Amino acid sequence: MSEAIGFRNVRKSFRRRGGELPVIDGADFALARGEFVSVLGPSGCGKSTLLNMAAGFETADSGEVLAGGAPVTGPDHTRGVVFQQYAVFPWLTVADNIAFGLRLAACGIPRDRHAAIVERYIGLMGLRGFENAYPKELSGGMRQRVAIARAYAPGPELLLMDEPFAALDAQTRESMQELLHDIQLTERRTVMLITHSVEEALFLSHRVVVMTPRPSRVSEIVPVGIPFPRTPETRLSPEFIGLRRRLEELLRGLSAAQASTPKEGRAA
Ligand SMILES: Nc1ncnc2c1ncn2[C@@H]1O[C@H](COP(=O)(O)OP(=O)(O)OP(=O)(O)O)[C@@H](O)[C@H]1O
Ligand SMILES: [Mg+2]
Repeated sequence: MSEAIGFRNVRKSFRRRGGELPVIDGADFALARGEFVSVLGPSGCGKSTLLNMAAGFETADSGEVLAGGAPVTGPDHTRGVVFQQYAVFPWLTVADNIAFGLRLAACGIPRDRHAAIVERYIGLMGLRGFENAYPKELSGGMRQRVAIARAYAPGPELLLMDEPFAALDAQTRESMQELLHDIQLTERRTVMLITHSVEEALFLSHRVVVMTPRPSRVSEIVPVGIPFPRTPETRLSPEFIGLRRRLEELLRGLSAAQASTPKEGRAA
């Protein structure tokens, strides 16, 4: 199985007033082509930093970040990114947002195919009738659907998503997970999803990577052996609930380790 993105013993610190902040301390994992992998871990452990290195926005201090076997040297059109916020351009219509990446010369898809591609994603993402609307006229969920469509449209091999549904209410969030699940069934791209939701990670992923507190490394990689397609009932299955419990416990332990600072013992 060939590798879409790989982290090999990656280390990363940030320089700060008052010294260095070690953030990633030897991250080592890879996503196979077509694989959906979620990354969970305590807040501030460096998940976004990892994703930013995969996108080419940040560089590792040591170790390697490899896309398709080649070192990542900067952002490029083979890797699409979806953020929690600022994910769409407010000055462009829905259709023009989705077409944005297609119109970049590096994308290489001929102009006469753009309209059909935009049309296809408008349909897949349930945005018909809103082609000419501006983001401010859309709900939060619709805006994130535009962001996802824009990321998929130029046909990147790898999609990097940093908490794309975090700002949405629970119900919208669940339907967005189902939409992303369905689009993956037809598109089969490689996806690295960062999330704080164990349920979201389990519903969508082949495997879940759990990171330790900062300075962070992989604590555990949990395979989700539940077959696709998954349905709303999947969330109620004993297998799903068992995995959810296991991951929640693991995360609770990691967060507690992060929170515990040496304290004076109290007299009994
Ligand atoms: N450009 C930067 N300069 C300095 N410090 C940074 C920079 N980017 C991130 N950090 C620090 O690195 C650490 C990890 O940040 P990061 O955003 O990767 O965490 P995270 O796991 O994504 O957190 P969250 O779950 O809250 O989104 C944090 O302590 C953050 O303050
Ligand atoms: Mg983050």
